[in-house]
Amino acid sequence: MTMDKPYLDVPGTTIFDADQSAKGYHLNQFCMSLMKPDNRARFIADQSAYLDEWELSPEQKQAVLDLDLNECIRLGGNIYFLSKIGATFGLSFQQMAGSMTGMTEAEYRDMMLAGGRSIEGNRIRDALAARIVEQGYAAPSPAAEAHPTISASVYTSHVPAIGAAMDLGKTEEPYWKAVFDGYEWSRQWMADNTPDVVILVYNDHATAFDLHLIPTFVIGTGPHFPVADEGYGPRPVPPVEGDPDFAAHLAQALILDDFDLTLVNEMAVDHGLTVPLSLMFGERPPDEPWPCKVIPLAVNVVQYPVPHGARCYALGRALRRAVESYDKPLRVQIWGTGGMSHQLQGPRAGLINREWDNAFLDRLISDPAGQAEVGHLNYVEEAGSEGIELVMWLIARGAMADIADDGGPGAGTTEVLHRFYHVPASNTAVGHLVLANHAAQDPASGPAAPTQE
Ligand code: DHB
Ligand code: FE
Repeated sequence: MTMDKPYLDVPGTTIFDADQSAKGYHLNQFCMSLMKPDNRARFIADQSAYLDEWELSPEQKQAVLDLDLNECIRLGGNIYFLSKIGATFGLSFQQMAGSMTGMTEAEYRDMMLAGGRSIEGNRIRDALAARIVEQGYAAPSPAAEAHPTISASVYTSHVPAIGAAMDLGKTEEPYWKAVFDGYEWSRQWMADNTPDVVILVYNDHATAFDLHLIPTFVIGTGPHFPVADEGYGPRPVPPVEGDPDFAAHLAQALILDDFDLTLVNEMAVDHGLTVPLSLMFGERPPDEPWPCKVIPLAVNVVQYPVPHGARCYALGRALRRAVESYDKPLRVQIWGTGGMSHQLQGPRAGLINREWDNAFLDRLISDPAGQAEVGHLNYVEEAGSEGIELVMWLIARGAMADIADDGGPGAGTTEVLHRFYHVPASNTAVGHLVLANHAAQDPASGPAAPTQE
């Protein structure tokens, strides 16, 4: 991966990053189980038997049995998790830290009393010098040439009843046919332009996240995302395959770009994510995989404060920088989902504002920076309380090539391939756009196309 990891050269130090986390996932989760007294008692009674309940490698099991914390760390353990093993045996943090240094407990304690380990001889250059003496000098390999391209962005409502209509074979009924007709072109186009990865912006609807934890922006860094049971049983669609390596790269790039994403390795995905997949890829039995990988990007639009449009738009621009700095030539699409106008609550439920919705679509296409400045209250007042989902569309729009990093005009262009609007689906106005992305020096894209329809 393209991730810059200068921290690998800090001597005697392992930084717990996405690679380490993936390596040590089950080891660290085993450690967490020791937070419960019953589990500690079972572990102490028969360590091997307890360890066999966890998906650990033989090396990881042995490292735990040996209480070899250095080896546990090499195998993906993190010290805050591993400390639960030490705590189970009554060890202090000082005893645990000392056990990794090759010193006796007394020697380590004395070193700390004498002012601690010296920084002299413990800098990056010391580790590099030691490595050159050991292995000789190797020039850094040249940077890889191939990077992902964002080929398109897709925008769509994600009404759960649309998924139910597909799952229950009702798509030919007149009520639903009027909705699905608007996606026919898109399905054909998608079949001809299937991406390798979709970064799918959606909101979780009290499914993976409840009031226990309310992250503003979430990136799914895990390998699989099961289809959630939202109370009706899980939808009969395939589970979602992630792209942990690409997601870890995006997380690093975005977090270092000051977007404080929450990293989620395990999460069930709800209708917000699966209905757009069904709309764009059509019916698919659970055992036939979706045709591409999906990186979930969830946004809190449930409990206020929710991020404003300008923040979402800026995240989209940062997302493009992050995508384009990865070192595999992937075809990537960004999808923005939710909306359009709908209100699911209270005496104003059923609110639809066609004029506002269509002005939103116009502005999203030709003046996204202006739309990004529109405040929450305008969405709620004009498009209904759940119409606030539309701020998520600005993330996908911000990633397009006609927008510069600073939000001004970009060097590339964006072309409207498809636009659809229909009322109603359940309580909602359905809106749908497909925008092709023509990067500035993209030879495949042909002549620059206008941003207007
Ligand atoms: C509906 C729409 C949504 O976006 C949603 O998340 C739940 C329900 C609806 O119109 O029924
Ligand atoms: Fe929704």
